[in-house]
Amino acid sequence: MAKFIEPVRGMNDILPEATARWRQVESVTREVLESYGYREIRIPVVEKTELFKRSIGDATDIVEKEMYTFIDRSEESLTLRPEATAGMVRAGLSNGLLYNQVQRLWCAGPMFRHERPQKGRYRQFHQIDVEAFGLAGPDIDAEIILMSARLWKRLGIKDVKLQINSLGTPVSRAAYREKLVAYLGQHQDKLDEDSKRRLGTNPLRVLDSKDSGMRALIEGAPSLLDHLDDESRQHFERLKRLLDEAGLAYTVNPRLVRGLDYYTRTVFEWITTRLGAQDAVCSGGRYDGLVEHLGGKATPGIGFAMGVERLVALMEEEGVAAPDAHPHAYLVRVGDAAESASMKLAERLRDALPALRLQLDCSGGGFGNQLKRADKSGAQVALVLGDDEIAAGRVALKPLHGGEQEQVAWDALPARLRGLLD
Ligand code: HAM
Repeated sequence: MAKFIEPVRGMNDILPEATARWRQVESVTREVLESYGYREIRIPVVEKTELFKRSIGDATDIVEKEMYTFIDRSEESLTLRPEATAGMVRAGLSNGLLYNQVQRLWCAGPMFRHERPQKGRYRQFHQIDVEAFGLAGPDIDAEIILMSARLWKRLGIKDVKLQINSLGTPVSRAAYREKLVAYLGQHQDKLDEDSKRRLGTNPLRVLDSKDSGMRALIEGAPSLLDHLDDESRQHFERLKRLLDEAGLAYTVNPRLVRGLDYYTRTVFEWITTRLGAQDAVCSGGRYDGLVEHLGGKATPGIGFAMGVERLVALMEEEGVAAPDAHPHAYLVRVGDAAESASMKLAERLRDALPALRLQLDCSGGGFGNQLKRADKSGAQVALVLGDDEIAAGRVALKPLHGGEQEQVAWDALPARLRGLLD
C-alpha cells in the first residue's frame, strides 16, 4: 500500500469534534461585530508580494523570514497573506471604499506564516480581523477596545488582560529610535544574537525580546511614552480616560511595540496566562499612515485581529461549554420492510423539523449492533422501526440517557421530538 501523504508542518485539520466550537466563536463574533455596525468583506488569500512588503515593512520578521512567497505561472511574485490588514486596505482602495468615507469592516479566514510551530503558533492559522477607516479620534480606539472586551464576555472568556501603549507618529518614533539605538549600542555585550541583528534593522523590536537575560537592560531603556509628540500624548490620555470612564481595566505597557511597521499611536493586546508562550489572543492598533502609503488619500485607520486557534484553546482551558453537535435522534431499522419505511419517515421528520439532527443507520446488522452505534453517536434518543411498528404506523422511541421506552405514532413524532432541539 502506498504511504499516505503527511500534512504540511504547522497546518492543521480542524476535526468534527472541534468545529462546533469554531462555529460558536464565529457566530458570536459576527453578532457582536454587526451590533457595532461592522460589515463583512471577503478578500483573496493571495496578494502581490509588494503589498505586504510595503505595508508590514521590509525589516519585520514576517517579511524577512515568514512569508509564503512564490512566482506564479505569469512570472508574478505572489504571497499567501500573513495577515489581513494590508489586504483590507488594498480592497478598500481597489473598490473605492475609503475616499472620504467611514468604513467599519471585518473579515475572517486563514493566514500563513512560516514560523516555528509550537502550541498556539501555526503556519496556517485563522484570524478574525476588524478594521475601522476614516476615524481619527481616540473615541473609536476606545470603542474598538470595548467591543473586543464585549467579545470575551459573550464568549465566556475570563482570563484575558488588556495592555495598551502609544507608538506616537513616525517622526516622534524616529527621534526615540535614535535614543534607543544609542542606549542599546552602549550595552552591545548584553544583547542576544537576535537583538544584535535587530539593533541595525528594527531596534524597537528589541524591547519585545523574550530573553530573560535582557530583562534588566530593557527595563532600563528610555521609554517610548516619554518621547511622544504632543498630539499623540493627548490622544493617548483621552483614550485612557475613555477606558477609565467605561470601567475597563488595562495596563500601560511602554514596551508593547508590535511586530508590524504600519502602526502609529495606539497599540493594544489582550494577553492570557493560560496558553504558555503564545499569550496574545488579540492584537491591534492604529495605522494612520498606511492608506496613503499604499497609494490612497490620507485616511486614518485602526483595527485588530484575533487568533481563532488561541481563542478556541483558551475556551477549552477555561471550560466554556461547547455547543452540542451530536445527532438529536438515531433511527434504527429492523427487517426488510423497514429499509424504505425508515427512509420515508426520516424525510418526513426533516420536512417537519428542519433543525433536527437525525441520523439514519445505513450500516445494517442486527438491532443490538445498531443500538450500540446509536449510543456511540451521542444521540439523545433512538427511534426503532420494525415490522410491527410499520404495520401500526408507529416507532419505538428509546431514550439513550435513561427513561422509559414509548410507542409514538408517526404523526405525533415531530411534536414529541421538538423538545430535543437546542
Ligand atoms: P498580529 O499580532 O500579527 O497582528 O496577529 C494578530 C493575532 O493573530 C495574534 O494576537 C494571535 O492571536 C494571532 N496569531 C498571529 N500569528 C499566529 C500564529 N502563527 N499562529 C496562531 N495565531 C497567530 C496582525 O496580524 C494585525 N494585522 C492586526 C491588526 C488588524 N492591526 C490592525 N488591524
